[in-house]
Amino acid sequence: TVLVVDYGAQYAQLIARRVREARVYSEVVPHTLSAQEIIDRRPSAVILSGGPSSVYAEGAPAVESALFEAGIPVLGICYGFQAMAHALGGEVARTGDREYGKTEVRSTTAPHSLLDGTGTVQTTWMSHSDSVQRAPEGFEVLACSDGAPVAAFADETRRLYGVQWHPEVKHSPQGQRVLENFLYGGAGLTPEWTTGNIVEEQVAAIRAQVGDARVICGLSGGVDSAVAAALVQKAVGEQLTCVFIDHGLLREGEADQVERDFVAATGAKLHVADERDRFLSALAGVTDPEQKRKIIGREFIRAFEAAEAAVLQEAAAEGARVEFLVQGTLYPDVVESGGGEGAANIKSHHNVGGLPEDMQFKLVEPLRSLFKDEVRAVGAELGLPAEIVQRQPFPGPGLGIRIIGEVTAERLDILRRADAIAREELTAAGLDGEVWQMPVVLLADVRSVGVQGDGRTYGHPVVLRPVSSEDAMTADWSRLPFDLLARISNRITNEVQEINRVTLDVTSKPPGTIEWE
Ligand code: XMP
Repeated sequence: TVLVVDYGAQYAQLIARRVREARVYSEVVPHTLSAQEIIDRRPSAVILSGGPSSVYAEGAPAVESALFEAGIPVLGICYGFQAMAHALGGEVARTGDREYGKTEVRSTTAPHSLLDGTGTVQTTWMSHSDSVQRAPEGFEVLACSDGAPVAAFADETRRLYGVQWHPEVKHSPQGQRVLENFLYGGAGLTPEWTTGNIVEEQVAAIRAQVGDARVICGLSGGVDSAVAAALVQKAVGEQLTCVFIDHGLLREGEADQVERDFVAATGAKLHVADERDRFLSALAGVTDPEQKRKIIGREFIRAFEAAEAAVLQEAAAEGARVEFLVQGTLYPDVVESGGGEGAANIKSHHNVGGLPEDMQFKLVEPLRSLFKDEVRAVGAELGLPAEIVQRQPFPGPGLGIRIIGEVTAERLDILRRADAIAREELTAAGLDGEVWQMPVVLLADVRSVGVQGDGRTYGHPVVLRPVSSEDAMTADWSRLPFDLLARISNRITNEVQEINRVTLDVTSKPPGTIEWE
């Protein structure tokens, strides 16, 4: 296992992901672990991630030099690179030469294995204001940039390496090569980790956690819950009942789709509960996004609890209890809900930050360390059909967080009709695969004047939010063809009479998140 030490920026997850892309298993650990605790886990290599701190800032996480004396290959990245330099007696200074964004890095030595195949000059992604001025003793300086006299270094004898830039981001085109040079070269690892391994590991972990207890799994219609359920089904099939809560915040056709595709593919037991009234009344009068998320999270749990008796009865297991609830929580959800040590809470994903404390179930979260594309690969490995595995993401809180303002039955109905048109046209244009997802957002409290037919209207706008993304942690707005946008706009304003304006969101993430709430 390669351990990625998380210094509190979101980069650590991305590094872990890139390492796994290189077919080497990798996990993220918090920087609060001591060097000894890290060594005790016997990692095959350690990567120190970037972070928001300066090594000189008060309370800045330091690296104990013991970590570098254990014979474990270590790669420091950005903050990790500076922390390594600092710990080993190099010099790190605040020069005021901030480098942010695309930065050219030049090799300063004869070709070195860490930079093998990356050319003498490479474009990298930098984000730093401190820089390493002098490498620690025993290190060779491999590269520099305008703002960083030491942009990469290596000590082959101790197998210690570091780069100032972020090789894990796609804006560093040679980044993956640098990581692989470290993994296969410096650390001498072989690429042998596959999705088959994830399935095996998770199945074993689920069996160990669950024992012979009964389990329910909430299906949302999305990829994540389907894959989580399929994993649990494979691990402890007889003990599992899938529960589909119809919370009234779904898109058109969603409920049918779950019954049809999922049950057909897995043969899992399914219990459907109509809970539309419960959710609508709990959401009445609520406009604050975080509050909506928390309410939806809470009501989900209450609905699962309410379904327990029926589930047990259908499974002919009266008298037993349901002990576990499976959730398709993904790594980015955990990180964005502030679950990554030291990371900021951006929004409470309902299945992470929004759960009530007094819930009666223990959680099983087999996807908690996985990224979306890994989840899709696991789903395919488990034999789920493309209609499920390739589905665009849809948030658990559903249309509830796509109505800006209070959620009411009438507004849901308006949004549902507009959303169905947008999805239909996107699919007809053959762009489902290219677009990560396209939320349609109803600005329910905004009205504007229009003219439809011969008369004046005073209707609502919807926002189209098509984005392209790799893992939802960052995203760019999709450049959809104008004629497609025109068709969507025409059809929505013609067919949904409450809507008289269609607008396009052209914001990337960051600064905007994908969903509006
Ligand atoms: P944001 O809006 O944070 O969304 O950029 C990132 C991805 O996560 C989805 N999303 C959620 N998924 N529960 C979920 O299961 C949630 O509470 C939730 N909130 C956002 C969103 O659709 C996008 O794919």
